[in-house]
Amino acid sequence: MSLSDEARQKIQEIAARYPRRISATIPALYVAQAEYGGWLPKEAMVEVAEELDVPPSHVFGVATFYTLFYKEPVGKHVVQLCTNLACMLCGAETLQQHLERKFNIKINGSIRDGTTADGTFTVLPVECLAACGGAPCMIVDTEYYENLTIEKVDKILTQIATQPTVFFKP
Ligand code: FES
Repeated sequence: MSLSDEARQKIQEIAARYPRRISATIPALYVAQAEYGGWLPKEAMVEVAEELDVPPSHVFGVATFYTLFYKEPVGKHVVQLCTNLACMLCGAETLQQHLERKFNIKINGSIRDGTTADGTFTVLPVECLAACGGAPCMIVDTEYYENLTIEKVDKILTQIATQPTVFFKP
């Protein structure tokens, strides 16, 4: 697989917004991640480097620094469950345990451990999502969900399971 002409054009459009092409690395990686079905194999990073005309080592460095870029295949939908202080005080641990039992996964930060056997979800623990007023909360794909309960989480994930993935596109 390689980047489509459309994705390459999008990266070029994004690069043109910046005085220095290297500044477009993060949005270009988002374009590539969506194109590759939600994660970034090495060839995708190399292609981004080629499109931006920057060293591959720079692109690898950015992609491996930010946790929102996935370096191995993820499920159809990525669930970012906040496990920081406010959310934990408001029940995130119960949600975490519930999802681990429900999906037979481990929410420990490992993509492999956090992915359901059918590949529908990858659930990852994340630090504060900056929505503490709505704790406990999660992001599924690109959407925030707040004031969660076990019942709400079950309802949301049941609805989302059959929907197409929504990728962040800069
Ligand atoms: S602690 Fe969860 S959003 Fe801030």
